[in-house]
Amino acid sequence: KNGQTPQEKTLDSSLALLKDGYDFIFKRRREMDSDIFQTRLLGQKAICIGGKEAAELFYDTSKFQRSGAIPKRIQKSLFGVNAIQTLDGEAHRHRKMMFMSLMSRERLDVFIELLAEEWEAAILRWEELEEVELFGESTELLYRAACRWAGVPIDEETVRAKAEDMSAMVEAFGAIGPRHAAGRSARRRTEEWLEGYIMDLRAGEFKVFEETAAYAMAFHRDLKDRELDARMAAIELINILRPIVAIGYYVVFNAMALHQYPEYKEKLAADEGKYRQWFVQETRRYYPFTPFLGASVIHDFTWKGHEFEKGTMVLLDIYGTTHDPKLWDEADKFKPERFEHWDSGPFDLIPQGGGGYDGHRCAGEWLTIDAMRVALEYLANRIEYEVPEQDLDLSLSRMPALPESHFVMKNVRRKP
Ligand code: HEM
Repeated sequence: KNGQTPQEKTLDSSLALLKDGYDFIFKRRREMDSDIFQTRLLGQKAICIGGKEAAELFYDTSKFQRSGAIPKRIQKSLFGVNAIQTLDGEAHRHRKMMFMSLMSRERLDVFIELLAEEWEAAILRWEELEEVELFGESTELLYRAACRWAGVPIDEETVRAKAEDMSAMVEAFGAIGPRHAAGRSARRRTEEWLEGYIMDLRAGEFKVFEETAAYAMAFHRDLKDRELDARMAAIELINILRPIVAIGYYVVFNAMALHQYPEYKEKLAADEGKYRQWFVQETRRYYPFTPFLGASVIHDFTWKGHEFEKGTMVLLDIYGTTHDPKLWDEADKFKPERFEHWDSGPFDLIPQGGGGYDGHRCAGEWLTIDAMRVALEYLANRIEYEVPEQDLDLSLSRMPALPESHFVMKNVRRKP
């Protein structure tokens, strides 16, 4: 029995987790004045950890594995069953190399170009509208760019519905009830559609460039030199398309930050080279997206006097680590300039996971930053718009976080 680790006195904290949302682990870390505590979630013991050293521990693959750690309800909505997020060891490394091979500088530059074209086309549409709802619109334009980049055909009739299915999977992760159910059916529909498409590619009925994600998923060979099951190939293709569409949340957060901290509009216009990257990094740090990550203990070990027992579920506090006052000066302030002196360590700015890209850290982090830089360029420098009265509060108990209004803009026009 572990005497040292603070324990939350609770039969089960699953309901408290839904209520506290992003703040669940962080709040208890503050209350117990500890970067580690023990609780019970979903009927089992869980150890919650946060901060830079905890992140470093969490990414030690000799101590933690993902297999068996990701609840089926998350796999059936957000990730896909048995996809890359659940793999360990050699199987994971091999699959991850395939994902990372899609992210060369050249391929990212192609994405940036396609994305800029979609922003241009969207702005032409927006100029004809009185009001634009930025979340839905950016979801669609990101989906169009994602499909073109990944070698997936776009059908004008269904494009909006398919884009919405991608965000429905993300919307589902922190929900119970209808929002969760909608994400599951969106996933079923999307997997069935793309499974058919993978089979068509294999049968030679469609041709796509070899450097696209569709080609990679259709023809990737596993460690035993076998093709992925067509359903699994579809699931991994969704693991490219869905998170690109999810950058729509960050586009909204960029717009919110520009609206709430308008002094940066001038700073971005005056010295863009300097501020753009800082602003994007600060948006990723400051606004909530991933609440925490889970893994399971491979074998008993002790860390700083705390015992970790084989099979225990361990949650790493992502939101709290990106808001940790021990790591970030005035952590609850939006302050892009903080990145002037950031030492770019792999375990502090972890909105998309930590460690190296050979581990589980997000394969799409560079693409996300590039896409946010494009969005910021349009929002701050290329268009003008009004922001009418609306509810822009972000509730930490809504996971994923999104303002009620989805960010409405009026009278969008190109800057002269
Ligand atoms: C993994 C966040 C965008 C592809 C992850 C992880 C997080 C994350 C927290 C898990 C890290 C871990 O398990 O340790 C985000 C956020 C994004 C984003 C907040 C912003 C929208 C993207 C994009 C792509 C992508 C654009 C692809 C184009 C992946 C993949 C994994 C992953 C394939 C699994 C990596 C692995 O298990 O090895 N992401 N991501 N993500 N992300 Fe992202």
